[in-house]
Order: sequence, then C-alpha cells, then structure tokens
Amino acid sequence: MTVLNKPLSGKIAFVTGGSRSIGAAIVRRLASEGASVAFTYVSAQNKAEELVREIQEAGGTALAVRADSANVDAVKGAVAETISVLGAIDIVVNNAGIANVKPYDEVTIEEFDQMAAINFRAVFVAIQAAGPQMKEGGRIINIGSINASWNPIPGNSLYAANKAAVAGLTRGLARDLAPKGVTVNNIQPGPVDTDMNPADGPYASLAKGMISLGRYGKASEIASMVAYLASPEASFITGATINVDGGVVI
Ligand SMILES: NC(=O)c1ccc[n+]([C@@H]2O[C@H](COP(=O)([O-])OP(=O)(O)OC[C@H]3O[C@@H](n4cnc5c(N)ncnc54)[C@H](OP(=O)(O)O)[C@@H]3O)[C@@H](O)[C@H]2O)c1
Repeated sequence: MTVLNKPLSGKIAFVTGGSRSIGAAIVRRLASEGASVAFTYVSAQNKAEELVREIQEAGGTALAVRADSANVDAVKGAVAETISVLGAIDIVVNNAGIANVKPYDEVTIEEFDQMAAINFRAVFVAIQAAGPQMKEGGRIINIGSINASWNPIPGNSLYAANKAAVAGLTRGLARDLAPKGVTVNNIQPGPVDTDMNPADGPYASLAKGMISLGRYGKASEIASMVAYLASPEASFITGATINVDGGVVI
C-alpha cells in the first residue's frame, strides 16, 4: 500500500540488518515517512516478522528477507527479491554489522574474513546490486562508525578498519553514482544503546566519559539522520561522512 502525502511516499527502501536495534529504528522511521521497506536479517526471525506486522498494522508496507550479509549471493538475492516484490529501489541503507572485540593477536583469519565480509564487502555488494537500477534522486546511506576515527577500546582494530573502509568507499562511490543523480553518504554513530553496545555494558563508563553529551545515543537518533539524508532536503549532500555521536571527544 502506498501512503500518500508523506516525504517518502511511493519510495522503495532496502535496509540490511533491520530486525533489531538501529536497523529496526531505521525501518520504522522510513516506513513512517511513507516508504515501502524491505529489510534483511540473519537470525532474529521472530523480531523481523513482528516488525513487518507492526508496520502493516500502521498501514505501511514491509518485507523481511533472510539474507546473511557474509554471503555475496544472499545479499544479491535480497536486492533482487526486493525489486521483484516491491519495485525499483530508491533508498539503500547498509546497516548490518558485527563487532568482535578481541586482542589483535588472538583474532583468527576466519574472524578477520567474516568481519570484512559483513562490515565492508556486503556494503559494496548491495550497492553494486542495487545501484544500476536506481534513478535520479536515489539515496545510498551507509552506517559506518565513529570508531573509524576514535578508538578508546583495545581489541577493536578490525572493526575500526572496516568502518574506515566504508568511509572511503562512500567517497569513491559518491563520484561513481553522481552522474545518475544518486547520492552516497556515510553516517558514523557514536555509542548507541543496542544489543551490540548496551548503555550498561562493559565499555559504557569509559565511553560515556568521552561523549560531550554524557550519554549513549538512541537508535531513533540515528534513524533521524537516515530519514534526513533519504529526503529531498538532502539533495546537495554526497560523499559525506556525518558523525552522530553526542560530541565524542576525539
Ligand atoms: N551500537 C553502537 O554503538 C554502534 C555505533 C556505531 C556504529 N554502529 C553500527 O550500526 C550498525 C547497527 O548496529 P547495532 O548496534 O544496531 O547492532 P545489533 O544490535 O547487533 O543489531 C545488528 C542487526 O544487524 C543484523 N545482522 C547482523 N549480522 C548480520 C548478517 N551477517 N547479515 C544480515 N544481518 C545481520 C542483525 O540481524 P539478526 O537480528 O537477524 O541477528 C540485527 O538486525 C552496525 O553496522 C554497527 O557497526 C553501532
């Protein structure tokens, strides 16, 4: 169903990792703005189905697709399924990500590859799959991390490196997609209260002391920036990395 008179009415969005936490807040927010939203998940099937129901009950359209971002064919398949069920994609949000804090000398090559596959390669794969069919006004929004440039926690180097790679990819792809009128931007959240990084978790007191606003962010505060970048209001922003971090002291 198309919701009329909303900023994203008639738009089709594809969000990776939308079943929980920041991704679910993004899915909710884009749907509330009128977009039809497909999102991927890997394990939280119940939460994914609940979210679809919630959006449908509010009069919107949502589609949950099980697709492991570590698997290239699964990511391509999720993009293809979105296009075949909902139509051409206008908005891509690369949100799925994992963290694995561990001493650098204990990280296995399998863990290295898995982190790179999910946090970096899948971002490129989704854009490569969706980009060619995107039209003027299209929006690609990557969820990087402030850890690309701020690292108070030991054992986080691979995560930081992959998020820095996402920032570089964003700048490069902004050039590649500009001729089509499609923007590509990167949001770098600071610490946000989620399953990945709970506001009462092991890193919280260290992190809070370095956040100017003195608290963790909420998933909805990242979704607000996604909604802005997805909107027509953000038409002259591309290749940008925008920190949404409560004023982390770097
Ligand atoms: N929380 C923070 O402090 C923070 C700060 C900066 C950046 N970020 C970034 O923000 C994004 C979301 O983080 P979050 O805190 O919301 O994480 P989270 O609480 O762990 O939620 C992760 C979401 O991504 C999905 N996901 C995980 N691995 C996946 C895979 N292999 N394939 C497909 N989906 C997968 C999960 O699906 P299932 O439910 O099916 O497992 C879930 O929906 C990540 O890119 C993260 O790096 C987070």
